[in-house]
Amino acid sequence: MTLPVRLLLACTLVAAFGAISVAHVWASSNNAAATTPITSASLIAGKKDYRQFCGKCHALDAALAAGFGGTGLGQDGGPSFNNLRVSANLSIIAVTEQFGGHETVVKKMSWQQIHDVANYVQVATKQNIYPAHVWDG
Ligand code: HEC
Repeated sequence: MTLPVRLLLACTLVAAFGAISVAHVWASSNNAAATTPITSASLIAGKKDYRQFCGKCHALDAALAAGFGGTGLGQDGGPSFNNLRVSANLSIIAVTEQFGGHETVVKKMSWQQIHDVANYVQVATKQNIYPAHVWDG
């Protein structure tokens, strides 16, 4: 191979790998479990969805939700979110990985609703001091 050909080949390879890694980042930020941008419209929808789907089990003063459990979404009341700081990502994991009582509610929700509610919970709980995290059991 002559030097110019080698250089051309090297440049082509760099360009190709560059494109792949950009595409990879783009794809991973668009998968179903990734959080969506928080807009005021999604927060309004998220609050409504919270009251419909989450507030029966998880108390949250900002959504006027008392969280007693029951009423068709499952029997167990969940932890109150009045002191917990819950990231959007944790809400999505909790609801879709179906730990502890989300088996019924997740089937009634669209992806849009799951994302809106997760964004809403993150914003509504961001001043709280205790970070929520996934428990082992
Ligand atoms: C039928 C009752 C019920 C409903 C409805 C419900 N949850 Fe839960 N949730 C629970 C229970 C019970 C736990 C505790 C699970 C455990 O400890 O294994 C929990 C745990 C969580 C956690 C983890 C909290 C922590 O401290 O680790 C998050 C986040 C969560 N739920 C979000 C939601 C969201 C968002 C909704 C609405 C889309 C929702 N849940 C609807 C019962 C419910």
